[in-house]
Amino acid sequence: MGKLKTYKQLIRNYPILSDQMTKKRLDIILRQLEQILIKNIPGSIVEFGCYIGTTSVFLKRLINQHDPSISFHVYDSFKGLPHKSIKDASVAGSGFRSGELKASKRQLLKTFKKSQLKPPIIHKGWFNELKDKDIPSEIAYAFLDGDFYSSISDSLELVWPRLVTGGNIVIDDFGKSNLPGVSRAVEDFFKDRPAKIRHEQDLAIITKP
Ligand SMILES: C[S@@+](CC[C@H](N)C(=O)[O-])C[C@H]1O[C@@H](n2cnc3c(N)ncnc32)[C@H](O)[C@@H]1O
Repeated sequence: MGKLKTYKQLIRNYPILSDQMTKKRLDIILRQLEQILIKNIPGSIVEFGCYIGTTSVFLKRLINQHDPSISFHVYDSFKGLPHKSIKDASVAGSGFRSGELKASKRQLLKTFKKSQLKPPIIHKGWFNELKDKDIPSEIAYAFLDGDFYSSISDSLELVWPRLVTGGNIVIDDFGKSNLPGVSRAVEDFFKDRPAKIRHEQDLAIITKP
């Protein structure tokens, strides 16, 4: 039997720390990152909407396996979800309310400490209030998990101009009826921008041509 790929070993060996991630989605998120790392695509790794770090610790472990010097930035309001807009309206998603999914920076640091990992570079604030200096000038891979229309649009506005050729963006909750703002934000953003967009397991995978 062949050797398991590094990202598959990580999913097999470590627990998923909250209900915000599943093995199936993590498999895709990490497979996309591993491809970027194997190809030596230059640039930082970023996650918009890190919460307690459920996915962040796996991203960090995979980075460490390839090149621990690659910078890893995470972003969150640490105040939970913002207000919904009309683009997020859905009966199925009535449970997602402003202030939900609130985690503190301390909780995130605790997750990394418990996992015996060096913490990422942490940026606290609403995505639309971040400054230019908060975002790395070159991004190789981004995981966007902000749930709402404005959160996905704002993070795309920040990431897309800095994403290097061949770099990837993976967006959670794409095509889900309870979070319709995610797909709408992706459709609106890429209406006039050339990009290769694929859909796999509630995730959009977008490559910069
Ligand atoms: C679904 S959770 C993220 C789950 C996380 N990726 C994980 O694996 O545990 C969404 C997170 O995005 C943050 N968030 C959503 N919209 C935001 C915005 N516009 N600005 C800053 N943070 C935001 C929330 O605070 C919340 O922690």
